[in-house]
Amino acid sequence: MKKSPEEHAARFDKKASEYDESKSDEYRACANLVIEHAAPDAEDVVLDLGTGTGAIALALAPDAERVVGRDISEGMMDEARAKAQDEGLENVELDRGTFREPEYDGPVDIVTSNFAMHHLSDEEKREAIDVIAGLEPRTFVLGDVMFFGEPDPEAPFYSPDVDDPATVGTLADAFTSAGFSLTAVERVHDQVGVLVAERSPVAEAEAPDE
Ligand SMILES: C[S@@+](CC[C@H](N)C(=O)[O-])C[C@H]1O[C@@H](n2cnc3c(N)ncnc32)[C@H](O)[C@@H]1O
Repeated sequence: MKKSPEEHAARFDKKASEYDESKSDEYRACANLVIEHAAPDAEDVVLDLGTGTGAIALALAPDAERVVGRDISEGMMDEARAKAQDEGLENVELDRGTFREPEYDGPVDIVTSNFAMHHLSDEEKREAIDVIAGLEPRTFVLGDVMFFGEPDPEAPFYSPDVDDPATVGTLADAFTSAGFSLTAVERVHDQVGVLVAERSPVAEAEAPDE
């Protein structure tokens, strides 16, 4: 962990009002893929972790039963709350929660997260993926900064002083260990991608009788 959650929260509180204006093409492509792969039905509850100003949560809300957003930055969530109100979205609930302690114990069908999990160390990402698996969603769609190969040190897509992206292999291993199967891997850029994980039928199956 390069910065504590409190330090990240303070950083995002400060940039919240300008956050939506500073997006790269890769970020937009990644967010669109997360939205496309999440594709909730009208009965689905979506949990969006690191929800920020609501790029994913607000886009999914019109199609879902309910969207629960969690973040550590009240400044970012205030932006999301204002947009939800402007758009007349009444099925979005935003509150403080972290990847490893989402502060939510209701039913969840789909978990999403975009451009947020790279703030955790690899060990913390593993713990977070285990916690998410414990919520028993059918799908987890993760869009984030992640390494498909050796990152070019001359052209990092992230800020090495505050971000800690994982390799795709590390994430795939964490998903598999937590009982998910990867059903899609989308490479947006050498350092940006989307992973779609479904809960593995093997993990859900009863052990056969001897
Ligand atoms: C780059 S923004 C992405 C926001 C949004 N998901 C999007 O696609 O625009 C990262 C967000 O992750 C949040 N964040 C950072 N560490 C977190 C943690 N441990 N738990 C929950 N949210 C966290 C930050 O507060 C920030 O709002």
